[in-house]
Amino acid sequence: MKPLSHWRIIKPMPILDPNVLEFLSRSADQTRRVGMHLGASLELGDLVCLEGELGSGKTTFVQGIAAGWGSLDPVSSPTFVIVNLYRRDGRQQLAHLDAYRIEAPSEAEALDLDAMLATGPLVVEWAARIEDALPEERLWVDLQHVDSEQRGMQFNASGERYQQLLDGFQETVFGVA
Ligand SMILES: Nc1ncnc2c1ncn2[C@@H]1O[C@H](COP(=O)(O)OP(=O)(O)OP(=O)(O)O)[C@@H](O)[C@H]1O
Ligand SMILES: [Mg+2]
Repeated sequence: MKPLSHWRIIKPMPILDPNVLEFLSRSADQTRRVGMHLGASLELGDLVCLEGELGSGKTTFVQGIAAGWGSLDPVSSPTFVIVNLYRRDGRQQLAHLDAYRIEAPSEAEALDLDAMLATGPLVVEWAARIEDALPEERLWVDLQHVDSEQRGMQFNASGERYQQLLDGFQETVFGVA
């Protein structure tokens, strides 16, 4: 994968916590490309939680994740169907869940997240709504609307697998560990 052409202008901010990474995306395209780098590292059982107001770029980010993971399927917001599945190599699948319309914890349990994690990576939009039903170890990404083209992105790793994932991601996107 080609390095980000203008990645020099999205330097990581000086944060003391090694499990947190922050930067500013300056376009929807850049958010997609950052997503591609993350998607390329995702494996079966990996959980990525996305949080951020309407239009903050969660689905745009998932478009990059699915492409980087290797799926040619089109990514759209699963708001009405709750879960979209994107295929790779015919058999593997990436699950894209939108929890926006989930109101009760029992609804989250009925989704059988474990089954999704057993067949591929899982990416969740509006993850805070079903946080109690999610495993504690995950990569958590907060997106903030800054202005029409800019979005703040904060990555938070919980657990060893996700610390490693974030380290590798930081190295490929920013060239530093
Ligand atoms: N830097 C950026 N990163 C991501 N999206 C951006 C950026 N700049 C502009 N946009 C635009 O903002 C919109 C983000 O929409 P998107 O559907 O990805 O948000 P969302 O967080 O999934 O919203 P929802 O909560 O409704 O699901 C798109 O129209 C996208 O083109
Ligand atoms: Mg969305």
